[in-house]
Amino acid sequence: MQTRPKHIAMIMDGNGRWAKKRLLPRAVGHVRGSSNVRSIVQVCVEHGVEYLTLFAFSTENWRRPEDEVSTLMDLFIQYLDKEVGEMKAAGIRFRMIGERSAFSASLQERIASAERETSQNTKLHLTVAANYGGQWDILKATQLWAQENPNTSLSLLEPQELKNYLSTRELPDPDLLIRTGGESRLSNFLLWQMAYTELYFTDTYWPEFDRAELEIALDWFSKRVRRFGQTDEQVLEEN
Ligand code: FPP
Repeated sequence: MQTRPKHIAMIMDGNGRWAKKRLLPRAVGHVRGSSNVRSIVQVCVEHGVEYLTLFAFSTENWRRPEDEVSTLMDLFIQYLDKEVGEMKAAGIRFRMIGERSAFSASLQERIASAERETSQNTKLHLTVAANYGGQWDILKATQLWAQENPNTSLSLLEPQELKNYLSTRELPDPDLLIRTGGESRLSNFLLWQMAYTELYFTDTYWPEFDRAELEIALDWFSKRVRRFGQTDEQVLEEN
């Protein structure tokens, strides 16, 4: 039985509705959401979580109004400018997954530099998924595999091998997914990687998802019996 998740994935939903409820522009919700990332990272470190993967921008989010897309990009830049030094000092390793070529040159540079600067850290692996989609990840991995194995039939490709071609190849699969904002769906997040992930949904909007809320989710997770396709009896025997 597992008590603490090694890897938490989060869908940070509800920034817009948080703002709307207060008659504020959606951008304000994203600003609050962005500062909440910082607090949640800190709580994860305190709880000994080793991997945290955040869904910041999906491949579908480009369909939002232009000014909202640009607010989200600016917040990502600001986050990196503000946090890299601190992440470096706190032992946090930063990674980004997703198609980064669509981002501005300055954002791409900051991402690369944050990854480089923190590459020796191991305390918490913080991964931001931006311009990311689960289907994109699986397709890209399959294409990459085919490129590297031009003389092998695709019918010989095994799940364990495909895993090594996904953008998350350096990360274990998530143990726990937390989605804020009241929706109960995966929205094209880590589709392959979450095959056996425990799914936790809360109505709380992301800007209000705080330490207490995270601790409730951790407590919920600690009570889950993870079977990975086995029976209860087999799991009991193993533990
Ligand atoms: C969903 O809320 C949230 C997003 C699409 C963006 C998440 C981004 C942040 C929290 C800030 C930037 C992140 C980093 C890592 C600096 P929504 O707008 O879909 O909310 P709604 O469903 O209430 O409209």
